[in-house]
Parts: sequence; C-alpha cells; structure tokens
Amino acid sequence: MNRRATVSMIVAMLAGLAAIAVAALIVWYRIDTSSQAKIAGNTVQPSVKIGGPFTLHDQDGKTFTDADLKGKYALVYFGYTFCPDVCPTELAIVGSALNEVEEKSPELAAKVVPVFISVDPDRDTSDVLKAYVPNFHPRMIGLSGTADQIAKVAKEYRVYYAKGKVAPDGSYLMDHSSFVYFMGPDGALITMFRHNTDPSDMANEIEQVVSGKNG
Ligand code: NI
Repeated sequence: MNRRATVSMIVAMLAGLAAIAVAALIVWYRIDTSSQAKIAGNTVQPSVKIGGPFTLHDQDGKTFTDADLKGKYALVYFGYTFCPDVCPTELAIVGSALNEVEEKSPELAAKVVPVFISVDPDRDTSDVLKAYVPNFHPRMIGLSGTADQIAKVAKEYRVYYAKGKVAPDGSYLMDHSSFVYFMGPDGALITMFRHNTDPSDMANEIEQVVSGKNG
C-alpha cells in the first residue's frame, strides 16, 4: 500500500468514527431529554420531584406554609412584582384560565388556589404583594419571605432565579424560570404549564384534572 492510499484510508476511518460519535451523541441527547421531561403540548412532566415543605408569609403578613395548601389544587408561579413583562403576562394567563373554569363550574374552580411566590423578597413586601396579586385574580395568594426561605422553596420547585445588574437608580431585573406548577391536593406536582400557554387550554386541563376525568 502506498503512502497516499494509507493517508486516505486513515481519513476515511476518522470520518467514519466521527459519524459514529455524532450519531451516538444524538441518540444519547434524545434519551437524556426524554428521561428528564415528558413534553406534551403545553405541559411538561419532569422526572424529578417538584414541590415540598415551605414556610413563607402571605400578602397580609401572615405565616403561610405548604400545609395551607393541603387538600386544594394550586397553580403556583414564581416571579417578582417589578417584572415588566413575563410575570404580568403569565399571571394574567393563570387568572383568565381560572376565570374560565369559574364560569363553567364554580365548584371546581373553588378547589383551585392561584399562588404567586416572589423571587425578589427585598422589594416584594407584604404591602407590595397586596397591591399586586388582586390585579390577576381576586383569590390569588402572594407569598414572600426571607432570602433563605425563598431560596429553599425555589430549590424544591427547581426554580432558577438570579438578580440582574443594578442600575444607577437602584432598579434591577430578576432572571427567573417561568413555569406554572399545577399541584395536587397532596402537594405533589400534577403537571407544569409552559410560559404563554393558552388560557383556554390551561382551563381545560384544570377542569379535567379537578373533575377527575384525568389524573
Ligand atoms: Ni418575571
């Protein structure tokens, strides 16, 4: 075999190996993605446990824990009241979805509590929350706490949040994940709604689950 043939054979072998590596990577990626989350339409079903015990305070300054949600369905959203766009949009979706359920069957809607948990406890005091949450739903509960309490509950719900750069006037944005967690009466996750889910789709899913037609 001459030198040239050897080189081209090596090149061909390397190309073959690279192709196998890429194929393996794609297969691995698919498996990994599917094992982490089952995505169906607007909802995401993670394989990790979501939720857990927490102690926070509500918009009236009263202590509020996970026990206060026992026996009820909850739509839990993490964000901050100073959020210019994502949070108000998402909370409005939660509010209209719940209104839609309420219009069709008030007794089903009464079993569902909308909950907003702040990831910006420095600015989101009880008073701030009290002025904010009724804009989205009259029964919405606004929760905040100490930095440690918020860190704990965010960790339990696998919520990512981080404080952005502080402007000269002291204002800042918070970066945060924006799923709506649909929790069952036992405190376990039923499903997660993706950001910008259509309110009617969310309402239908809530109605099916709470009426016992599904889940
Ligand atoms: Ni936000």
